[in-house]
Amino acid sequence: MKKARNVPLGRGGAVPVRWRGDLGRVLISERQIARRVRQLSAEIQKDFEGREMVVVSLLSGTVMFLADLIRRLSLPMRLDFIGVSSYGAGTTPGELVFTKELRLDVRDRDVLLVDDILDTGRTLTKVLAKLRALKPRRIKVCVLLDKAARRVEPVQADYAGFEIPDYFVVGYGMDFGERYRNLPFIGVLKKKVSGERGAGNSEL
Ligand code: IMP
Ligand code: MG
Repeated sequence: MKKARNVPLGRGGAVPVRWRGDLGRVLISERQIARRVRQLSAEIQKDFEGREMVVVSLLSGTVMFLADLIRRLSLPMRLDFIGVSSYGAGTTPGELVFTKELRLDVRDRDVLLVDDILDTGRTLTKVLAKLRALKPRRIKVCVLLDKAARRVEPVQADYAGFEIPDYFVVGYGMDFGERYRNLPFIGVLKKKVSGERGAGNSEL
């Protein structure tokens, strides 16, 4: 496993005026994201060269990350999605339910499983078990953010963009109650907006 970069905290720039009521800070700027995603693509490109690659992405938080990651892969690949939803609104996860099943055959293929955030690890553990049953040749896991301190299940990412503290983050595809996915940067949600789990951060 390659070590995730520690986030260069506090250098994400100012929160755009439009979002100041909702976000305490910009955790990772557009530029920082772009640079790191390019590096991840390069690593993946090297590791998957010459393979029958299938990218399996989890809906919906990966939209921006996935688009940026795969446009830089100059490899023959196929793309499919798995929908997982944790019923329970807001920041407290509930029971995991599959909302879209995989369509492509991954038997004997090299799978790259892409998710936005590896948090407790419950989601990826469940998805990995499902994928393994389909007998791919191998599965590598790629996540943009890793909240290593919150892990409950023993799951690790092979490629991780940034390791972050226990903040509740939004933007660049990631949501709170289906909002904020459109922000081009990653921001920390203010506690007064998220209620329970805000950011685990007393500054906010
Ligand atoms: P896990 O099952 O606890 O590892 O949670 C993984 C999923 O929870 C991620 O794929 C996200 O969809 C969601 N999640 C975890 N932390 C955050 C966050 O800070 N912001 C938005 N979504 C999050
Ligand atoms: Mg997700």
